[in-house]
Amino acid sequence: MDLVVKRAATLQGQLRPPSDKSLTHRAYMLAAIAKGPSEIIGPLASQDCESTLSCLRQIGLKYEEFGGARVLTPPESWSAPAGPLDCGNSGTTIRLLGGLVASRPISATLSGDSSLSKRPMRRIAEPLRVMGATVIGDTPPLEIQGAQLRGIEHRSPVSSAQVKSCLLLAGLRAEGPTIVREPSLSRDHTERMLSALGVDVRTLSGDGESIARLNPGAGIQGFRFEVPADISSAAFFIVGACLVPGSNLQIIDLGVNPTRTGILDVLRQVGARYSLEDGREELNEPVANFEIRRPTMLQPFEISGALVPRLIDEIPILAVLATQCDGTSTIRDAAELRVKESDRIELIASNLRAMGVEVEVHVDGLTIAGPARMKGAVVDPAGDHRIAMAFTIAGLIADGTTTIRGAECIATSYPDFERHLGGICAV
Ligand code: S3P
Repeated sequence: MDLVVKRAATLQGQLRPPSDKSLTHRAYMLAAIAKGPSEIIGPLASQDCESTLSCLRQIGLKYEEFGGARVLTPPESWSAPAGPLDCGNSGTTIRLLGGLVASRPISATLSGDSSLSKRPMRRIAEPLRVMGATVIGDTPPLEIQGAQLRGIEHRSPVSSAQVKSCLLLAGLRAEGPTIVREPSLSRDHTERMLSALGVDVRTLSGDGESIARLNPGAGIQGFRFEVPADISSAAFFIVGACLVPGSNLQIIDLGVNPTRTGILDVLRQVGARYSLEDGREELNEPVANFEIRRPTMLQPFEISGALVPRLIDEIPILAVLATQCDGTSTIRDAAELRVKESDRIELIASNLRAMGVEVEVHVDGLTIAGPARMKGAVVDPAGDHRIAMAFTIAGLIADGTTTIRGAECIATSYPDFERHLGGICAV
């Protein structure tokens, strides 16, 4: 399916973006290991999260749908699935589920689509093997034979919440504590949710290292969780509002966990003003209403170091923001982008160049010259949802028409993207 985009006059209005993808995955996984049913209100119904749910159903989870809520009832104990667990396009599904399977007396094969099958799994397979599980394969499919694990201290060379969460979830049933060290703090949803549910898990962040430590023991009870909106999905419209003339956008119920709000640091660098109001918490996850107006001038920005994991999924859309800043913006220390749903560094660069932007590619990032006059182009997102949405927003400020090929991939995380865009966009 092609998505055809034209210049927008303004973005105006109020939006409730889709519920958070990372939180929906975790809510389902925690519900599958809880004692008793859990109620998940407003989970994200995207392909990625449905992959998690369908894998969990194969190990015995039952669920019922009530309006916008799902009640999940875990099995007494997990049973080995009859066939492979298809994780689709979802890195979070395969890595977190890998940790849960490895710590139970079952065997399962975890597979995925052609993109997932190329992504590195050694980063979870190695430490799970050290913990005592049998894991065959360093890319999907992974054959995992679970066991009684022992807690380990693992140093991850990359800041990755998927690696950290895999090991912490495995550590819940291990003998002794599980400690995961990473260069800087990655999203800490697993730690926050587990801690809200009574598990002894702590994060300690210092200079040059962040440490998560989990003590096994306490099982978790069923819970109720209302899933906040996803800042990674909202990011497309937040940046859109910074770029399209006269824009003013309110975003409600936004998840604003500080390990996810790197984009707000960038907004401050570019000189955009925003407000956050009506703060509340859901299982230790901060939520607020957000408002932004288009700034008159955009300063260039720099992204590197500890900021990178706090906005890793927003880099495609922040690269689009860079094209309209008054000077050169740089993104470094982001080599992880090469092993996401696509090689995002190459795809951002080639598609920005096709739209008339000057871009320099580095092994770990990009240098982007602004301000650029954007011209419409045909964009091939290579099946990557975030590239498809980022270039849709670019199309709103480009001359002529921009065509996003294979735009159905957007449903991976944001099935209502086109409808929401139509609702706030005046042409
Ligand atoms: C995620 C963590 C990030 C992010 C992904 C979702 C998660 O991956 O890019 O979209 O839910 O834990 P890494 O932790 O591997 O960087």
